[in-house]
Amino acid sequence: TSSTFDFAANLFPLSSTAAGVGGYAPIGAPTSGRSRGGLGGGALEKHKTLTYLNGLSLIVGLIIGSGIFSSPSQVSSRVGSAGAGLVVWVVAGVLAWTGGASYAELGGAIPLNGGAQVYLAKTFGELAGFLFTWSAVLVLKPGSAAIISIIMGEYLVRAVIGAEAETISPWVSKAVALVGIMTVTMLNCVSTRVGTRINDMLMFLKFVALLFITITGIAVAITGRTLTGEPTLDWKGHDWFEGTTSDLSAWALALYAGLWAFDGWDNTNYVVGEFRNPSRDLPRVIHTAMPLVILSYVLANLAYFLVLPLPAINGSNTVAVLFGSRVFGPAGALVIALIVSFSCFGALNSSTFTAGRLTYVAGKEGYIPTVFGRIGFGDRRLEDGLATQRTRSWLTKKLRSWVGDEDTGLFYTPVYALLLNCSITAVYCVVGEFSTLVTFYGVAGYTFYFLTVLGLIVLRVAEPQLDRPYRTWITTPIIFCCVSLFLLSRAVFAQPLQTLLVVGFVLAGIPVYFLRVRGRERKNMGDHGKKWWQIWK
Ligand code: ARG
Repeated sequence: TSSTFDFAANLFPLSSTAAGVGGYAPIGAPTSGRSRGGLGGGALEKHKTLTYLNGLSLIVGLIIGSGIFSSPSQVSSRVGSAGAGLVVWVVAGVLAWTGGASYAELGGAIPLNGGAQVYLAKTFGELAGFLFTWSAVLVLKPGSAAIISIIMGEYLVRAVIGAEAETISPWVSKAVALVGIMTVTMLNCVSTRVGTRINDMLMFLKFVALLFITITGIAVAITGRTLTGEPTLDWKGHDWFEGTTSDLSAWALALYAGLWAFDGWDNTNYVVGEFRNPSRDLPRVIHTAMPLVILSYVLANLAYFLVLPLPAINGSNTVAVLFGSRVFGPAGALVIALIVSFSCFGALNSSTFTAGRLTYVAGKEGYIPTVFGRIGFGDRRLEDGLATQRTRSWLTKKLRSWVGDEDTGLFYTPVYALLLNCSITAVYCVVGEFSTLVTFYGVAGYTFYFLTVLGLIVLRVAEPQLDRPYRTWITTPIIFCCVSLFLLSRAVFAQPLQTLLVVGFVLAGIPVYFLRVRGRERKNMGDHGKKWWQIWK
């Protein structure tokens, strides 16, 4: 039986003797009694199930969602030409890559579940980490999930009812979105393995879909005519940069749209603590996922530009479906709409997987009611690894081994956290206004990305001795910080009111923090003398 202490010592084989029994007591390793209120002491992290492939599909599964199939119009219509559009896609991809590489360094140095929360707490203090969690649990995660699920609903409805039906009530697609959210939550509640297996399968589907679009696009452009007889772009004599704008704000807005399509590169950081070998796999995942995604996005865009006239792209929110119908006719539109809704379903699944863990960590820390930091339906023995293995029937054993959780059983997942996330997402889905959600997500999300990566630079200076199994080039975080600062400043000028709303919401977390932390200290939870970042060297 492994106690929290063995776990801590194994995860952090450090030679410090100052921190008590076991050499080292990180986050929430209690001196006696139940493990409460600790990031690293979490029951989920005792079972290190995630591999390189799971990491890859967690990232790719979330990144390739809706964006590449619908945002090309938002990019090219703003910068004015196909060539400039392609440049924006490359820049957005490289920016996401620098962000991912920076996060990989942080994740290797601080291998715990929780993502930006733990890095911010380590660098700027617990309040900064809390404010991230506050925003992520209440808005960022459920908000982005709501956006993805609404898009999923729209494409599915389109595929079933027909691509041209414009008269369908938005409530139909919202209802489909709700069903999708609930399905994904249920699957993720059953077992960790079910969630990751779905991710693995859908990742391949997405790459195949993008590859298919690329190959047909290029093939059709070479022959000069689509299967339905439409002419394609005359690419030999074409001026790709004709009409490019020099308005910086337009470029910034285009970049935002591209970045949404690349967003999700921080997804593995939420579950670092569950990786078998985080310091090896995290950078590997980033450095394979990002180039693959960038390449397939740029190629897919090239295919769109070759086959569809620019004005048609600029005027469409569903570029991929347009592409399908132009090349193959109505059947093509239907197939592509189906693929896109599956792709969104996969992104929703990836997002839910990590949102559940993030919410769970918040519960563990006592930031939100501690029930959300429980595993399963509340069997405490299960969480402490004390539940006895009952004798099970052959069928039950088979079923359990298929989902891969023989030793922990079904529902060894943060069930309450997942249900909370599902409920908030559903509320946004029903009442949320699409463009508000998108703006809020962009501004708040990039504020925290910026601060976290800035934290990396601060940590390099303040704590050079910190063990960093993976070090990125120092130019990487610097580039990321500069570009995200540029983006944020543009947003402040372009949408001052919405930015104020974001700032107001984040700051509203401060009183909550003091209330929760005082309450926590009164109940003597999660506080073992010193805070974890004070002993972390
Ligand atoms: N890149 C995804 C898409 O194209 C969106 C990712 C949303 N981000 C997130 N962290 N949930 O649909």
